[in-house]
Amino acid sequence: MANLFARKPLARLMEEAQEVGEHSLKRSLGPINLIALGIGGIIGAGLFVRTAAAIADRAGPSVVLAFVVAGIGCAFAGLCYAEFASMIPVAGSAYTYSYATMGELVAWIIGWDLILEYAVAAATVSDAWSEYANRVLGWFNMALPYQWTHSPFEHDAGGVHGIMNVPALFILLILTMLLIRGTKESAFVNGLIVILKVSIVILFIGIGWQFINPANHTPFIPPATTHTTAQGIVHHYGGLLGILGAAGVVFFAYIGFDAVSTAAQEARNPKRDMPIGILGSLVFCTILYILFSYVLSGVANVDDFRAAGREASVAFAISKYMHGYEWLSRAVTVAILAGFSSVILVMLLGQSRVFFSMSRDGLVPKIFSEVHPRYRTPWKSNMLFFVFTGLLAAFVPADVTGEMTSIGTLFAFMLVCAGVWIMRVRSPELERGFRVPAAPVVAILGIITCGAMIYGLGWTNWLRLIGWLVVGLIFYFTYGKNRSRITAPPPEMPEGISMTR
Ligand code: ALA
Repeated sequence: MANLFARKPLARLMEEAQEVGEHSLKRSLGPINLIALGIGGIIGAGLFVRTAAAIADRAGPSVVLAFVVAGIGCAFAGLCYAEFASMIPVAGSAYTYSYATMGELVAWIIGWDLILEYAVAAATVSDAWSEYANRVLGWFNMALPYQWTHSPFEHDAGGVHGIMNVPALFILLILTMLLIRGTKESAFVNGLIVILKVSIVILFIGIGWQFINPANHTPFIPPATTHTTAQGIVHHYGGLLGILGAAGVVFFAYIGFDAVSTAAQEARNPKRDMPIGILGSLVFCTILYILFSYVLSGVANVDDFRAAGREASVAFAISKYMHGYEWLSRAVTVAILAGFSSVILVMLLGQSRVFFSMSRDGLVPKIFSEVHPRYRTPWKSNMLFFVFTGLLAAFVPADVTGEMTSIGTLFAFMLVCAGVWIMRVRSPELERGFRVPAAPVVAILGIITCGAMIYGLGWTNWLRLIGWLVVGLIFYFTYGKNRSRITAPPPEMPEGISMTR
C-alpha cells in the first residue's frame, strides 16, 4: 500500500533535468519560443468558436466579464505552474509535480488524465480544422464530399453517412512529422502561425472597434430570459449565473499555457524562462481575449447570435455588420485554420512529453521515451500518438470530447495548485526560479476556482472523468505498478546474483 504513495526523490528529478546526450531531449528553446508556444496552444477554437456561443447562450456582452473570471482562475493555476516548472524543469509537467509531492498513484492518475487535455484535445481540434479546411477548399470549388470529412457516426440531413474524416488525419500526420523532425523546427513553424493568427485577431479588434454599436452593450449584463419558439421553450441564462456559466464555456480558450511546462527539458534556461513562457503567454492572451470579446459583442446583437445558432461566429458578425470587410471575414477563417494547427501541434508536443516522463519512470512502456538519435525527439511516441489521435479524429464525432478536455485540465490544475502548497511546506529550502506570491492563498484560490468550474460542467462530465480514470487505474494495477522504477520490487534474480538499485 505504501508503494502507491511513494514519492519520486527530488534528487533524481534534478538529475533528469540536467541530462545531456543523444538519449535526452535537445535544449533549443528560448523565452520568445516559449511564449509563442503558449500562445500557439492557447488561441484556437475557444476564442473563435466558443465566444459567440457563450454570448448567445449564456452571457450576452458580459462574456467580457466571463473572460476576466476564467482568466483569473487560470492566473492562479498559471502562477503555480510557473513555480513548479522553474523548480523541477522536466518534461512531465503536472504528472511529475504530483509524483514529487503526492506519490505515484496520484501521479499516475494525473498523467492518465492529461491524455484528455492533450491527445483528446488534439483529436477534437483536428475535427474542427477539417471543417474549416473544407470551407476554404469550398472558396475554390474544391470542397470534399461529406463522407470523407465526417466520422461513420455522423450523417447529413439527406441521410449520407460519413466514412472517415480525411482532412483531420492529414493535419495530424503533417504536424506529427514536423514534431519528429525537431522541436526547434516545430517551434519555428509555430512562431509563424502565431504571428499570422495574432495579427488577424488584432486587425479584427482594431477595425471592429469602429463598428461597435453601444446599444449592443446595453444592458451589459442581460437578465435571464425565457422565450417560447416553434422548437419549444428556450431558456437563456443571464446575470451572475450567466457570467459564471460563460466562464466555464470560455475556459477552453485558455487551455494550452500549461503545455509550455512540458517543454521544460527543451528550454535553454528553464529556471528563468519557464515562468516567462507560461505567464507571458497567459497575460498576452487574456488581454487579447477581453478586447476581442468586447468588440465582438459590440458589433452584433445578442439576438443575432441567438438567431444564427451554430453559424454564430466572428465571420458571421463581420459579414452582417462590417460592410466592405468581406476580406476580413476570409482572413479570420484563415486565422482560425492557422490557430487550430498550432493548438494541435502544441497539444501533440505536450502529450508526447508527459508520456516521455512516465515512460522514464517505468509506468508506461519504454518505447514512449526512445529518442531519435539525430532529431532528438521522442519519435516513436509521436507516431503512436498519431495513430491514437488519428483513430479518434477519423472515426469518432467531436462534440463530447471538448468538455472532457476542460474537465481533465481543471482537475490537473487543482492538483498542481495543491502540489505547490505541499512543496512549500515540505521543501521550503529548495531553489525556485519563480515563487508564487502569497503562496498558500493563491494555491487555495486556484483550487476553489477550478473546483467551481468543474462543478459547473455538470454530472455527465464528472461521470465521464471518473470512467476515464477507472480505465486508467486498471492499466496502472495491471502494468505500471509492477514496472515502476521508483517503487516496484527488483525482478527475481538467479541465486548468487544481487542487484543494486
Ligand atoms: N485553447 C485551445 C483552443 O481554444 C485549446 O482551441
